[in-house]
Amino acid sequence: MTASDSEAVVLASRGEDETERIGEAIGRRLVAGQRIGLDGELGAGKTCLVRGIAAGLAVPEGLVRSPSFPVILPYQGGRLPLYHIDLFREGAAEGDVEELREYLYGDGVAAVEWYQRLREPLTDFLAVSLTFVGTESRSVVVRADGVGYDRLLDELRRLQ
Ligand SMILES: Nc1ncnc2c1ncn2[C@@H]1O[C@H](COP(=O)(O)OP(=O)(O)OP(=O)(O)O)[C@@H](O)[C@H]1O
Ligand SMILES: [Mg+2]
Repeated sequence: MTASDSEAVVLASRGEDETERIGEAIGRRLVAGQRIGLDGELGAGKTCLVRGIAAGLAVPEGLVRSPSFPVILPYQGGRLPLYHIDLFREGAAEGDVEELREYLYGDGVAAVEWYQRLREPLTDFLAVSLTFVGTESRSVVVRADGVGYDRLLDELRRLQ
């Protein structure tokens, strides 16, 4: 454990709505220049959680979908620009941090599905891991890999 690591917050979600609500709590607390790395199997709820983040940032409803082509979907009109990135369908070249840098480390916030596929590891981010617990339930583990996420994690602890 390093100084920038913090204790993980473990939340249970019993349905899509609850996962969205967790995302919403995250979105409300995000500040410019932060990142969320999402991991979990296909269908675990990563995009669902990003929908909640968008709502928490007051991005107009209905914009969030799965980025494939293009790999980045910018959602404007909220409190901060939200860049939704999904690296599942892309080859290693598209996981190039150089090409994604302006979105990953820019003016807004970035939410990255399959972030481990980035060639250069993501730094200073909120890691969100979703795992299946039956069909409708998920375990959502959130931890900070970097500084600046303490208030956000405190907010999430209130949902425990
Ligand atoms: N507790 C839950 N949280 C989130 N989604 C749930 C939950 N229970 C059931 N679901 C369903 O699981 C699916 C999650 O889909 P979603 O696209 O968010 O997954 P994903 O992790 O982004 O997948 P992919 O890896 O394909 O991008 C939806 O169909 C949703 O209705
Ligand atoms: Mg997805």
